[in-house]
Amino acid sequence: HPHLARDAQGELRLEGHSLADLARRHGTPLYVYSRAAMLDALAGYQRALEGLPHLICYAMKANSNLAVLQTFARAGCGFDIVSGGELERVLAAGAEPSKIVFSGVGKTAAEMRRALEVGVHCFNVESLGELERLAEVAAAMGRRAPVSLRVNPDVDAGTHPYISTGLKDNKFGIPHDEALAAYRRAAALPSLQVIGIDCHIGSQITQLEPYLDALGRLLDLVEAVEAEGIALAHVDVGGGLGITYTDEAPPAPETLVRALAELMRARGHGHRELIVEPGRSLVGNAGVLLAEVQYLKPGETKNFCIVDAAMNDLVRPAMYEAWMAIEPCRPSAGTAAATWDVVGPVCESGDWLGRDRRLAVAPGDIVAVLSAGAYGMAMAGNYNSRPRAAEIMLDGDAVHVVREREDARALFALERLLD
Ligand code: LLP
Repeated sequence: HPHLARDAQGELRLEGHSLADLARRHGTPLYVYSRAAMLDALAGYQRALEGLPHLICYAMKANSNLAVLQTFARAGCGFDIVSGGELERVLAAGAEPSKIVFSGVGKTAAEMRRALEVGVHCFNVESLGELERLAEVAAAMGRRAPVSLRVNPDVDAGTHPYISTGLKDNKFGIPHDEALAAYRRAAALPSLQVIGIDCHIGSQITQLEPYLDALGRLLDLVEAVEAEGIALAHVDVGGGLGITYTDEAPPAPETLVRALAELMRARGHGHRELIVEPGRSLVGNAGVLLAEVQYLKPGETKNFCIVDAAMNDLVRPAMYEAWMAIEPCRPSAGTAAATWDVVGPVCESGDWLGRDRRLAVAPGDIVAVLSAGAYGMAMAGNYNSRPRAAEIMLDGDAVHVVREREDARALFALERLLD
């Protein structure tokens, strides 16, 4: 966790700021991000891609706060989007439309029209049905839609089944053995302009091999497609690189990108633009979620530490049984360590943030859930009518509130009583 450290007094600090103090000042639950950590993570990709034709498209679903998007847009990033909502969000943050790739299996005609109107770099098309619809929408607008086909390479990314996307029985992409026919069809539609190929094999991937297998399979197809006279300018390998939550040791972004670029070069594809769509690896370890301990509830078989953050704030443990580190922000004087299940106030047994954690904590203490910068706030909801957390972006000495805490009135502002 870059930029996160304990000082001599044992106080947990992010970019030098005391997390316990931030929690006192801004309330809990509270997401806190380090801008420097995000830019450092991006720099790893940038260094490895320097001098090569490339585009880094941050997969904004991982963390779509406007200030996060603005940070990446200013650093020259493009974006991978999956909805009309993401498109409006990222435009509001200052993204260049020509650096946006539009992924997703269910694009509506309205979403396609808007993306064509603003001029996205390309549509990552995931089925024949989508191909036909996009051709119709573009034709009606008198435009040519730039298209890449998302191919399902049928490789096992070796990750959690819920976040694995490149296997035959996943809903994503066009099966590898149907892709050539799909390219022929795309090339025959005058309102489409075929420009690339893409894949995305999963998330929290900790090995190089699945990427190299997938890229190899893509390059086989590129060669077959070009043999039919259909030119492909770019190869997009998707996102998915893992981060360290506990003891995972994923390759560094630089190692991954260098290996991919080397395989491209070795197979004679070094001239093609390489697109990557990292999400988690750019923001995951740049953020923490802070919560205040409300009650300790020791029991016969389990001890519960009840905090004021819950599954609605951070759903990864409940949804994927994800393990995320939990640490007290300040050493608790005179408190003995015990084994706790750290749980939230939501009325579900699945509402937990960590199980069987050895912690010395007392009511009123602030704890930090680490590695919460990715798929944290982005997946937050309002179950149990819980307002969503506030978000803070640290930038050197500066502390920016980049999302205010939702208030209870906002929860039902769109609802109407009957007459
Ligand atoms: N590109 C596409 C087409 C994707 O579907 C995704 C993520 C990415 C890029 C970025 O993947 P990343 O680099 O972040 O692994 N909510 C889950 C992760 C879901 C990922 C969905 N797709 C989690 O919390 O683990």
